[in-house]
Amino acid sequence: MKKIGVLTSGGDSPGMNAAIRAVVRSGIYHGLKVVGIKRGYEGLIHGDIEDMKISSVADIIHRGGTMLRTARSEDFKTEEGFKKAINVINVFGIDGIIVIGGDGSFRGAQSLSQAGIPTIGIPGTIDNDLAYTDYTIGFDTAINTVLHAISNIRDTSTSHERANIIEVMGRHCGDIALFSGLAGGAESIMIPEDLVSVDEVCKKLIQGKNRGKLHSIILLAEGAAENSYDIKKEIEEKAGIEVRLTILGHIQRGGSPTAFDRILASRMGGYAVDILLQGKGSRVVGMKANEICDMDISEALSMKKEIHKGMYELAQILSR
Ligand code: F6P
Repeated sequence: MKKIGVLTSGGDSPGMNAAIRAVVRSGIYHGLKVVGIKRGYEGLIHGDIEDMKISSVADIIHRGGTMLRTARSEDFKTEEGFKKAINVINVFGIDGIIVIGGDGSFRGAQSLSQAGIPTIGIPGTIDNDLAYTDYTIGFDTAINTVLHAISNIRDTSTSHERANIIEVMGRHCGDIALFSGLAGGAESIMIPEDLVSVDEVCKKLIQGKNRGKLHSIILLAEGAAENSYDIKKEIEEKAGIEVRLTILGHIQRGGSPTAFDRILASRMGGYAVDILLQGKGSRVVGMKANEICDMDISEALSMKKEIHKGMYELAQILSR
């Protein structure tokens, strides 16, 4: 192993830069040449690749986004695009690749490793939707962004004695809603893993109002709602309470990463280089019980992410 490449793919997440920095600097420390592949798998197809030096990753640990840029490449999924990518890997003499991204990106990593290219995945997504790891890079920053929004919305909600729905990202996973809802003391948390009825949400709202509650926060995961405007309307009609809806959107994907995400990204980046050097390929890096670990890509992708039942029940108990 003489030369490794690093790329970020799929939706960006805060902490990706810290992971790139860790891969580049650990790789160089171990005597490797490191190249940065731009715009994910697109850069592999088009040979958009540049040499990385220690200074290439200076002043990025605190920045959101990804200095390598990112993309969701449809071409890479085609036979022709994939062949071009393999060709570029060979032409550039790349011996191993580290992919920072979510499950879609890991499927690309799986294909590369099946084609004989040692490939390691690092979980970079705000969604925390990968079952094999306790945390993904960017999730902690995203829930802190949501928490900040909850606090602001709570102020105005109290003044106007309203209920507020806050719609958060997460694709099919309810972790952003659950974790930020628990931290923010939300009255109701609506997640795709356990669809509660609007009637149940309304019952809680009415009970709260009768107890003298001045505001209510409803955390709604995007995967739990076909149309959040319809949910808002239904709640207003059924509970007879004025409701406002805030869709937080991409504000959750940016911002300076938290200490947790920077540390996680640094540890995972260093670890990914270590296992490549040990001759491992076809692995994904994760964190279990605060220890960095690795697992076979295919095995990790076959695992089904479950919601943390204990936390979900606790959130319900504490929000009564
Ligand atoms: O996977 C990260 C994520 O932010 C999801 O939470 C969200 O559903 C999706 O990406 C949004 O994608 P885009 O940036 O393409 O709109």
